[in-house]
Amino acid sequence: MSGQSTHHEPRPAETADDGDGGFPPGPDGRPVIGNTLQFTSDPHAFYDELASYGDVVGYSVARQRMTTVLHPDLVQQVLVTDSEKFGKWDISDFGTEFAPDGLLFTEGAQWREQRTLAQPAFQLDRVRSYGDAMATYARELVDDLDDGETIAANERFSELTMRILADSLFDLDVDGSEAGAAITRAAEALNERADPDGLGTFVPQWVPTPSNRRFTGAMAEFEETVDRLVAERRATDDGARDGDAHDDLLAMLMRAGEDGDGMSDRELRDTMLTFLFAGHETTSLALTYTTYLLAEHPDVADRLREEIDDAVDGDTPDTIDVFGLEYLDRVCTESMRLYPPAYVVFREAREDVELGGYEIPAGTKLTLPQFHIHHDERWYDAPGEFRPDRWTDEFEASLPEYAYFPFGGGPRHCIGMRFAMLELKLVLATLLRHCRFEYRGDGPPEPTMGATYQPTEDVRLRVTKR
Ligand code: HEM
Repeated sequence: MSGQSTHHEPRPAETADDGDGGFPPGPDGRPVIGNTLQFTSDPHAFYDELASYGDVVGYSVARQRMTTVLHPDLVQQVLVTDSEKFGKWDISDFGTEFAPDGLLFTEGAQWREQRTLAQPAFQLDRVRSYGDAMATYARELVDDLDDGETIAANERFSELTMRILADSLFDLDVDGSEAGAAITRAAEALNERADPDGLGTFVPQWVPTPSNRRFTGAMAEFEETVDRLVAERRATDDGARDGDAHDDLLAMLMRAGEDGDGMSDRELRDTMLTFLFAGHETTSLALTYTTYLLAEHPDVADRLREEIDDAVDGDTPDTIDVFGLEYLDRVCTESMRLYPPAYVVFREAREDVELGGYEIPAGTKLTLPQFHIHHDERWYDAPGEFRPDRWTDEFEASLPEYAYFPFGGGPRHCIGMRFAMLELKLVLATLLRHCRFEYRGDGPPEPTMGATYQPTEDVRLRVTKR
């Protein structure tokens, strides 16, 4: 398949003084609803409108200068080439506050040290060792599904990814322990706050609404639980080195700090909370949208099932089985193009920067919207269509690198990418081996723009066992 391989230059503004070195042109006087994340009641239409101004668009929200970047080369400049000139948004810009000392929100030297400590836990051989848990829980889900049953896929996958995370992060069974239950409550509280329809994000955290009390309570409980787990493990001392020691991410992070320069207890806690937040709904959404797309494209599902049946000997696929399954790879890639679970990357200019011929003053907040760039006709033929076969080697080679960036890019790209991809593939392979799905919703799912790209309604799928 050809794709659109010509590498277009960034589009200048069509309206005003293009590329004259000033602040980029864009719409003025937008009404502001809620916090800065929710620009209007219809963000898709808003971003379409922004695109009419060019590839670098300037505007302001609540007197805050904003710039949206719509060209892959400029995305690359922000995330990679000039990454040191851009920082993260402050967590309070998202209307909430959690884990300020965790990997997602720290900056500078603190971030670098944390990333270095956490990195080994996500290396390929380590990630493979979590594959067993991923496959086991996926198989349990399959056993739990009844032939003919209609499920809310988003809910079932949210439970599944929670189980897998609790096991991989803390070696905990969510059903079998109070600590596991506390961790699930924390994940639920984070999701509730991140829900764009919930009032949570409009009300400061200190106002004692029931939702805020629930959130504060769940966070306190999470902190106590992690502190207790850490203390217990320290008390059994070299537990991490014993044969029957824990082999989870918490153990990895604790071990990384044994020589002195480890994380403080607070950083450890915030980093675990960050993994829980960053790794739970994102992966669940990738599973939800992929199964929806497979249900709507039985030809793709049949071909994928054939590839999986050929590769898998036993009843349940394992890590080795899913490596190198080319079609599975293409299906996952195409699904996250259409429905990127993390749909916008946020940055803030730390100094004055030149971007596509414009001046971006220090303090400007930038958005780099995957959901928009992944649908740009300059890079993708029929961008709205689910076509796994577009991902040929030639097409990938012709595509500007940052025309596709579901996991971000540059030094702060997703540390959990391999973990998420393995989970996605193992779960899909297990599901397809034992089930067929039929979509039962009215019209395609409509993603909302909360903390993640969650669908407004449950994604209902009818299951047939095979
Ligand atoms: C399909 C699933 C996932 C998607 C789409 C996704 C997407 C992303 C994106 C776009 C970023 C970059 C954010 C930025 O630059 O501002 C990111 C960062 C991050 N992700 Fe993921 N993620 C996924 C799964 C996971 C998992 C499973 C984990 C952990 C278990 C995880 C942990 C993190 C962390 C800690 C960061 C911050 C890294 C840093 O700043 O150094 N993610 N993710």
